[in-house]
Amino acid sequence: MSVMTRRNWALRLSIILNVCVLLYVCVHFGSWQEDGTNWDTAAAVPLVQDNILGSESIQINSSLKTAQEARATKVTGSEEKKHVDTSTTGSAGGTKGVDATKFVGKDEHGLEGQESRPLVQPSISLKDAVGCNDKSLEPRKAQRGDYWVLYNYVPMTMSVSCWETITYTTHGDYTFLDNLEPLLERWKAPVSIAMHAPGNDFQPTLDSIKYLRNCGSPLVSQLVTFHLYFSSKHVPKVVPPSEKVIDEIYNCSLGAPWANPQYTSKMYKNEKKLLYPVNVGRNVARESAVTHYLLASDIELYPSPELPSKFLEMIRRRDQPTLFKPNPKVFVLSIFEVDEKSLPPINKTALSKMLKSGTAIPFHKKLCSSCHNVPKSKEWQEAPETEGLHVFHVGKRTGPFVHWEPIFIGTNSDPWYDERLSWEGKSDKMTQGYELCVLDYDFLILDNAFLVHRPGIKIFKKDQRREILTAKTNVLISKIIVPELKVMYGVRKGCAV
Ligand SMILES: *[C@@H]1O[C@H](CO)[C@@H](O)[C@H](O)[C@H]1NC(C)=O
Ligand SMILES: *[C@@H]1O[C@H](CO)[C@@H](O)[C@H](O)[C@H]1NC(C)=O
Ligand SMILES: *[C@@H]1O[C@H](CO)[C@@H](O)[C@H](O)[C@H]1NC(C)=O
Repeated sequence: MSVMTRRNWALRLSIILNVCVLLYVCVHFGSWQEDGTNWDTAAAVPLVQDNILGSESIQINSSLKTAQEARATKVTGSEEKKHVDTSTTGSAGGTKGVDATKFVGKDEHGLEGQESRPLVQPSISLKDAVGCNDKSLEPRKAQRGDYWVLYNYVPMTMSVSCWETITYTTHGDYTFLDNLEPLLERWKAPVSIAMHAPGNDFQPTLDSIKYLRNCGSPLVSQLVTFHLYFSSKHVPKVVPPSEKVIDEIYNCSLGAPWANPQYTSKMYKNEKKLLYPVNVGRNVARESAVTHYLLASDIELYPSPELPSKFLEMIRRRDQPTLFKPNPKVFVLSIFEVDEKSLPPINKTALSKMLKSGTAIPFHKKLCSSCHNVPKSKEWQEAPETEGLHVFHVGKRTGPFVHWEPIFIGTNSDPWYDERLSWEGKSDKMTQGYELCVLDYDFLILDNAFLVHRPGIKIFKKDQRREILTAKTNVLISKIIVPELKVMYGVRKGCAV
């Protein structure tokens, strides 16, 4: 936590405490006048909790009940109003084509909580349930190890609060950008993408971004923030200012640069035999997300539709005991592949049919099933689809799942990806998996949500260069990284990289 956010929280806390003290004094001043004796501290406590949690119902058993209830209702009443107001400005702030309330799904939920019967804690507004600080989308340049990073180089136009939606954070070079539109069609929420753009790959990367923003779906400029990065040994010839990239019109009849063999056949990265620094991209995209919750994923994995709003509704409902366990937690998505003649299924019912007919299979079943096998996956596949989203099962990265590389919805408090690992060397998510295990994370598997790899089932292809790099990476992990992780995070029985 940065000093600024700490100060921010300290300030907020002191304001809340001040308000409480003031109310306390007011209330008791009233009661002295009434009977002059009733000075029990218990009466003030629910008010404090009420302010912090913002819960709608309070229970006070004292002679002050009515006065306090009146005040408490006032406080929550104005909170609710603010909540609704933000959502209206949210959709007005966004440009045409997207209804902010649609992907956020908060209007109808903000008030609903009063009627539902909470099992564990009172239902509260989504804003209070998430509890976070907003972040800036201002473009900035910075060095990061051996890399130059253009953070928020091309920011999304929609302004979102940290609590109101989820960001899909991902990485790639420009040849992966054909995935962006199909991804957005299903996700319909912010995307933060870090693009590797060394040397002469920089210009086609810029052209691809311009092409997507000018010639494709309006969702791209509304919801996608592009960050660019390259090694300091491979700086491009020109790096134009952000505004120029944002304002320039692209000639759409030139087509998409990633579909143009003139560029792709002689990519700078390939000619210079550069490795793909996958984890630099993952971390840049993740730490730049402006929302509290994020789905750090690979761009070829398309989520089931309406995942952001369904997930946040589950968080707001607060009706599942597993959500309140003290362990740190992430929300895991099951992953599938479909054959190239099929479209990705739009819901679990459709997915189940495809699994039965064999047009869909669990992800990497043919490559590395132990990396992606999810606990209770058989039961998951057999369970019929239900309304909304819930935790299906709580798993651990131990036993048969000790090498699991889960993809999950988490936050920026979760461990990072080791930037020394490359895509070519494989095992790039294993060290994070180990850290999650040692920190005793709960892996909350979601019941009705899933990811589908872009159509086409992967089969094993021999690649000698990758085999050599994989062997080198394995040595790096076992000889250097693992001893380091043991110092930094300690050890726990059953955990392995
Ligand atoms: C309030 O307290 C009185 C006695 O102190 C008790 O009889 C009554 O049931 C309590 N009411 C509630 C709502 O807890
Ligand atoms: C756009 O590109 C096409 C095809 O290369 C070309 O014929 C046309 O003149 C260009 N238009 C503009 C405005 O540059
Ligand atoms: C799932 O999708 C299918 C179309 O593939 C649709 O017919 C069905 O109504 C959907 N089911 C639910 C529960 O939304």
